[in-house]
Amino acid sequence: MINYRQPLLLIALSALVALVGCSAKDKDKKKTTSNSDYRTPSLRGPSMRNPDIALSANFPGNVGVSHSRGRTTMPYIAMTYDDGPHPQNTPRLLDMLRERNIKATFYVIGRSVNMYPHIVRRIVAEGHEIGNHTWTHRKLTALSDASVRWEMDKTRDAIIAACGVKPRTMRPPYGALRQSQRAWIYKDYGYPTILWNVDPEDWKRPGLSVVTSRIVNNTRNGSIVLAHDLHKPTVDAMPATLDGLLRKGFKFVTVSQLLALNPSTTATPPAAKPAVPVFTPVPNSVTPVSTVVAP
Ligand code: NI
Repeated sequence: MINYRQPLLLIALSALVALVGCSAKDKDKKKTTSNSDYRTPSLRGPSMRNPDIALSANFPGNVGVSHSRGRTTMPYIAMTYDDGPHPQNTPRLLDMLRERNIKATFYVIGRSVNMYPHIVRRIVAEGHEIGNHTWTHRKLTALSDASVRWEMDKTRDAIIAACGVKPRTMRPPYGALRQSQRAWIYKDYGYPTILWNVDPEDWKRPGLSVVTSRIVNNTRNGSIVLAHDLHKPTVDAMPATLDGLLRKGFKFVTVSQLLALNPSTTATPPAAKPAVPVFTPVPNSVTPVSTVVAP
């Protein structure tokens, strides 16, 4: 009985060993084919760097009441980030900007400035600009002049208390501000109203690649780009967005630097009778243009 069964047991054992061997091989195979972490080397390279830009931020007193873009024909652009500071997203964005030597403009909400003054100090210490985005983020068209003034004053004072710097421009929440309101704010505070001409609608959270492509595809020389550091997905979309803009040859400046630029001080003066064709920058030019210092 035992002698008869032993060979069968051996066969069963060797079959089992063979099975285990096979499944171990399959496991190895799966490991090598399912490596989803792989990225092509080009996407993992160091991020690009904005050049050092020595442009004056002193825009003239008669610069104009409202702006949705700069007047420059050179490839200078201003990134603007609204509704912060946010305790996590803003510092993360600041790291991304610092890595690329990019200076941006932050339209901060006064209430949040009071909650996170250390972040406002970091924004200014790293060379960015701060703008007034009101205290409560309400639609200013629905408020009395006295209430608008309260919003402006309280936010300005919180910014000065946090970082010692006065805001120089304002952005109305939702872009909503009547012409008459813009005029008296400009007269009384010296704040031009800053709108935008590139809006990725990032606050609707359309997906990272959509935010990136809307910004990279629609930005032109002199553009003011709207984005929100309040929202995590917006900040997540910034590395690809900023690198995409740098790759197209755009140079990042603050809103005040963009306002201080004007076509007559930055464009090549036209020669009376040019002997050779004069280079004139075209929108979205990929040719790097050397930095011009405004007087
Ligand atoms: Ni806002």
